[in-house]
Amino acid sequence: MRIASERDIEGLRAIGRVVARTLAEMSAAIGPGVSTRELDQIGASALKRHGAVSAPRCVYRFPGDTCISVNEEAAHGIPGARTLGPGDVINIDVSAELDGYFGDTGATFVVPPDNQLKRRLLQTAEEALARAMQAARAGALLNGIGRAIESTAERAGFTTLRDLGSHGVGRSLHEEPRFIPNFHDPVDTRLLHDGQVITIEPFISSGSCGCRTAADGWTLISGPGNLSAQFEHTLVIRDGEPLVMTLP
Ligand code: CO
Ligand code: CO
Repeated sequence: MRIASERDIEGLRAIGRVVARTLAEMSAAIGPGVSTRELDQIGASALKRHGAVSAPRCVYRFPGDTCISVNEEAAHGIPGARTLGPGDVINIDVSAELDGYFGDTGATFVVPPDNQLKRRLLQTAEEALARAMQAARAGALLNGIGRAIESTAERAGFTTLRDLGSHGVGRSLHEEPRFIPNFHDPVDTRLLHDGQVITIEPFISSGSCGCRTAADGWTLISGPGNLSAQFEHTLVIRDGEPLVMTLP
Protein backbone atom coordinates (compact mmCIF):
# COMPACT_ATOMS: atom_id res chain seq x y z
CA MET A 1 0.00 0.00 0.00
CA ARG A 2 0.93 3.62 -0.21
CA ILE A 3 0.43 5.88 2.80
CA ALA A 4 -2.43 8.32 2.14
CA SER A 5 -2.94 9.82 5.60
CA GLU A 6 -1.67 10.01 9.17
CA ARG A 7 -4.38 7.43 9.96
CA ASP A 8 -2.54 4.90 7.77
CA ILE A 9 0.70 5.44 9.72
CA GLU A 10 -1.15 5.07 13.03
CA GLY A 11 -2.83 1.84 11.86
CA LEU A 12 0.46 0.34 10.68
CA ARG A 13 2.26 1.39 13.88
CA ALA A 14 -0.48 -0.23 15.98
CA ILE A 15 -0.24 -3.63 14.29
CA GLY A 16 3.55 -3.27 14.00
CA ARG A 17 3.75 -2.89 17.79
CA VAL A 18 1.55 -5.96 18.27
CA VAL A 19 3.65 -8.26 16.07
CA ALA A 20 6.90 -6.94 17.58
CA ARG A 21 5.65 -7.55 21.14
CA THR A 22 4.33 -10.98 20.18
CA LEU A 23 7.71 -11.93 18.70
CA ALA A 24 9.45 -10.72 21.88
CA GLU A 25 7.14 -12.76 24.11
CA MET A 26 7.70 -15.89 22.04
CA SER A 27 11.47 -15.48 21.86
CA ALA A 28 11.69 -15.06 25.66
CA ALA A 29 10.34 -18.62 25.96
CA ILE A 30 12.94 -20.22 23.65
CA GLY A 31 14.94 -22.94 25.39
CA PRO A 32 15.88 -26.62 25.28
CA GLY A 33 12.87 -28.94 25.54
CA VAL A 34 10.33 -26.30 24.46
CA SER A 35 8.19 -27.38 21.50
CA THR A 36 7.47 -25.13 18.56
CA ARG A 37 3.76 -25.66 19.28
CA GLU A 38 4.21 -24.23 22.79
CA LEU A 39 5.91 -21.17 21.30
CA ASP A 40 3.10 -20.77 18.78
CA GLN A 41 0.51 -20.94 21.57
CA ILE A 42 2.31 -18.08 23.34
CA GLY A 43 2.12 -16.16 20.06
CA ALA A 44 -1.53 -17.01 19.50
CA SER A 45 -2.56 -15.80 22.96
CA ALA A 46 -0.50 -12.60 22.60
CA LEU A 47 -2.17 -11.78 19.26
CA LYS A 48 -5.59 -12.51 20.72
CA ARG A 49 -4.90 -10.33 23.77
CA HIS A 50 -4.07 -7.42 21.44
CA GLY A 51 -7.19 -8.04 19.32
CA ALA A 52 -5.12 -9.01 16.26
CA VAL A 53 -5.61 -11.92 13.86
CA SER A 54 -2.84 -14.18 12.54
CA ALA A 55 -2.17 -13.24 8.90
CA PRO A 56 -0.84 -16.60 7.65
CA ARG A 57 -3.86 -18.34 9.17
CA CYS A 58 -6.50 -15.90 7.89
CA VAL A 59 -4.96 -15.09 4.49
CA TYR A 60 -3.47 -18.49 3.53
CA ARG A 61 -5.10 -20.98 5.97
CA PHE A 62 -1.64 -21.77 7.35
CA PRO A 63 -1.91 -24.43 10.09
CA GLY A 64 -0.46 -22.23 12.85
CA ASP A 65 -0.62 -18.65 14.11
CA THR A 66 3.07 -17.99 13.51
CA CYS A 67 5.76 -19.56 11.31
CA ILE A 68 8.55 -21.31 13.23
CA SER A 69 11.46 -22.74 11.24
CA VAL A 70 14.34 -24.70 12.79
CA ASN A 71 17.84 -25.37 11.36
CA GLU A 72 17.57 -26.53 7.72
CA GLU A 73 14.01 -25.18 7.61
CA ALA A 74 14.30 -21.68 6.14
CA ALA A 75 10.73 -20.37 6.35
CA HIS A 76 7.03 -21.21 6.74
CA GLY A 77 7.74 -23.99 9.27
CA ILE A 78 4.57 -25.38 10.88
CA PRO A 79 4.55 -25.26 14.70
CA GLY A 80 4.29 -28.76 16.13
CA ALA A 81 5.71 -31.40 18.43
CA ARG A 82 9.35 -30.73 17.51
CA THR A 83 11.23 -29.72 20.65
CA LEU A 84 14.18 -27.39 20.61
CA GLY A 85 17.61 -28.73 21.44
CA PRO A 86 20.93 -27.07 22.37
CA GLY A 87 22.46 -25.22 19.41
CA ASP A 88 19.29 -25.15 17.30
CA VAL A 89 18.85 -22.13 15.03
CA ILE A 90 15.22 -21.00 15.20
CA ASN A 91 13.41 -18.41 13.11
CA ILE A 92 10.11 -16.95 14.31
CA ASP A 93 8.01 -14.96 11.85
CA VAL A 94 4.95 -13.10 13.13
CA SER A 95 2.49 -11.39 10.82
CA ALA A 96 -1.00 -10.25 11.75
CA GLU A 97 -3.90 -7.92 10.98
CA LEU A 98 -5.56 -5.28 13.15
CA ASP A 99 -8.27 -2.84 11.97
CA GLY A 100 -7.50 -3.62 8.31
CA TYR A 101 -3.73 -3.08 8.57
CA PHE A 102 -1.04 -5.76 8.36
CA GLY A 103 2.36 -5.96 10.06
CA ASP A 104 5.09 -8.52 9.40
CA THR A 105 8.24 -9.09 11.46
CA GLY A 106 10.71 -11.89 12.05
CA ALA A 107 13.93 -12.74 13.83
CA THR A 108 16.35 -15.62 14.29
CA PHE A 109 17.77 -16.99 17.55
CA VAL A 110 20.17 -19.71 18.68
CA VAL A 111 19.22 -22.04 21.52
CA PRO A 112 22.36 -21.89 23.74
CA PRO A 113 25.14 -22.78 23.33
CA ASP A 114 25.90 -21.00 20.06
CA ASN A 115 29.16 -21.07 18.13
CA GLN A 116 31.10 -18.69 15.94
CA LEU A 117 29.41 -19.72 12.68
CA LYS A 118 25.90 -19.27 14.09
CA ARG A 119 26.79 -15.94 15.72
CA ARG A 120 28.26 -14.67 12.45
CA LEU A 121 25.26 -15.90 10.45
CA LEU A 122 22.82 -13.99 12.68
CA GLN A 123 25.04 -10.88 12.80
CA THR A 124 25.33 -10.90 9.00
CA ALA A 125 21.54 -11.12 8.57
CA GLU A 126 21.04 -8.18 10.97
CA GLU A 127 23.71 -6.20 9.16
CA ALA A 128 22.09 -7.03 5.80
CA LEU A 129 18.77 -5.68 7.08
CA ALA A 130 20.43 -2.47 8.31
CA ARG A 131 22.30 -1.94 5.02
CA ALA A 132 19.23 -2.69 2.93
CA MET A 133 17.29 -0.11 4.97
CA GLN A 134 20.03 2.42 4.21
CA ALA A 135 19.53 1.71 0.48
CA ALA A 136 15.73 1.95 0.66
CA ARG A 137 14.91 5.55 -0.25
CA ALA A 138 12.13 7.15 -2.31
CA GLY A 139 13.30 7.40 -5.93
CA ALA A 140 16.05 4.79 -5.52
CA LEU A 141 16.11 1.52 -7.42
CA LEU A 142 14.26 -1.29 -5.68
CA ASN A 143 17.14 -3.61 -6.55
CA GLY A 144 19.40 -1.56 -4.24
CA ILE A 145 17.83 -3.65 -1.47
CA GLY A 146 18.97 -6.94 -3.04
CA ARG A 147 22.36 -5.48 -3.86
CA ALA A 148 22.93 -4.48 -0.22
CA ILE A 149 21.78 -7.88 1.07
CA GLU A 150 23.82 -9.91 -1.41
CA SER A 151 27.02 -7.93 -0.94
CA THR A 152 26.73 -8.14 2.86
CA ALA A 153 26.30 -11.93 2.61
CA GLU A 154 29.19 -12.39 0.21
CA ARG A 155 31.58 -10.26 2.24
CA ALA A 156 30.92 -12.56 5.22
CA GLY A 157 31.40 -15.72 3.11
CA PHE A 158 27.69 -16.57 3.09
CA THR A 159 25.01 -16.84 0.37
CA THR A 160 21.37 -15.74 0.19
CA LEU A 161 18.25 -17.84 -0.36
CA ARG A 162 17.09 -16.70 -3.80
CA ASP A 163 13.57 -18.15 -3.60
CA LEU A 164 12.69 -15.94 -0.63
CA GLY A 165 12.41 -12.19 -0.58
CA SER A 166 10.83 -9.04 0.76
CA HIS A 167 7.42 -7.74 -0.38
CA GLY A 168 4.82 -5.03 -0.35
CA VAL A 169 2.49 -5.14 2.68
CA GLY A 170 -0.11 -2.98 4.43
CA ARG A 171 -3.70 -3.77 3.49
CA SER A 172 -2.87 -7.44 2.99
CA LEU A 173 0.11 -9.62 3.90
CA HIS A 174 1.56 -9.73 0.39
CA GLU A 175 0.98 -6.86 -2.03
CA GLU A 176 2.80 -5.32 -4.97
CA PRO A 177 5.77 -5.44 -5.27
CA ARG A 178 5.25 -9.14 -4.49
CA PHE A 179 8.89 -10.19 -4.74
CA ILE A 180 11.88 -8.05 -3.79
CA PRO A 181 14.87 -10.36 -4.29
CA ASN A 182 17.68 -11.08 -1.84
CA PHE A 183 20.12 -10.55 -4.71
CA HIS A 184 21.02 -7.86 -7.21
CA ASP A 185 19.00 -8.13 -10.42
CA PRO A 186 20.57 -5.68 -12.92
CA VAL A 187 17.56 -5.71 -15.29
CA ASP A 188 15.09 -4.80 -12.52
CA THR A 189 14.32 -1.11 -13.11
CA ARG A 190 11.54 -0.70 -10.52
CA LEU A 191 11.82 2.35 -8.25
CA LEU A 192 10.84 2.88 -4.64
CA HIS A 193 8.17 5.52 -3.97
CA ASP A 194 7.51 7.92 -1.11
CA GLY A 195 4.93 6.41 1.24
CA GLN A 196 5.30 2.87 -0.13
CA VAL A 197 4.96 0.18 2.55
CA ILE A 198 7.24 -2.84 2.22
CA THR A 199 9.01 -5.43 4.31
CA ILE A 200 12.74 -5.95 4.19
CA GLU A 201 13.68 -9.49 5.16
CA PRO A 202 17.11 -10.78 4.11
CA PHE A 203 17.60 -14.56 4.24
CA ILE A 204 21.32 -15.23 4.77
CA SER A 205 22.42 -18.83 4.26
CA SER A 206 25.47 -20.83 5.31
CA GLY A 207 25.73 -22.41 1.83
CA SER A 208 22.48 -23.24 0.02
CA CYS A 209 20.98 -20.79 -2.48
CA GLY A 210 17.68 -22.58 -3.03
CA CYS A 211 14.80 -24.13 -1.12
CA ARG A 212 12.35 -26.95 -1.74
CA THR A 213 8.86 -27.36 -0.30
CA ALA A 214 8.57 -30.16 2.27
CA ALA A 215 5.99 -32.95 2.11
CA ASP A 216 3.76 -30.94 4.49
CA GLY A 217 3.15 -28.51 1.62
CA TRP A 218 4.35 -25.45 3.57
CA THR A 219 7.83 -25.67 5.04
CA LEU A 220 10.62 -24.34 2.82
CA ILE A 221 13.75 -26.41 3.36
CA SER A 222 17.28 -25.50 2.31
CA GLY A 223 20.04 -28.09 1.78
CA PRO A 224 20.91 -30.88 4.27
CA GLY A 225 22.74 -29.40 7.27
CA ASN A 226 22.27 -25.86 5.94
CA LEU A 227 21.52 -23.00 8.33
CA SER A 228 19.89 -19.68 7.52
CA ALA A 229 18.93 -16.50 9.36
CA GLN A 230 16.27 -13.89 8.63
CA PHE A 231 15.40 -10.59 10.31
CA GLU A 232 12.37 -8.65 9.09
CA HIS A 233 10.78 -5.25 9.56
CA THR A 234 7.72 -3.61 8.01
CA LEU A 235 8.59 -0.06 6.97
CA VAL A 236 7.45 3.03 5.10
CA ILE A 237 9.68 4.42 2.34
CA ARG A 238 10.63 8.09 2.69
CA ASP A 239 13.11 10.56 1.17
CA GLY A 240 15.33 9.89 4.18
CA GLU A 241 15.50 6.88 6.49
CA PRO A 242 12.51 4.54 6.20
CA LEU A 243 10.02 4.64 9.10
CA VAL A 244 10.08 1.30 10.93
CA MET A 245 6.56 0.18 11.90
CA THR A 246 7.47 -3.08 13.69
CA LEU A 247 8.90 -1.72 16.93
CA PRO A 248 7.69 -2.73 20.43
CO1 CO B 1 7.39 -12.34 7.90
CO1 CO C 1 7.33 -10.97 5.08
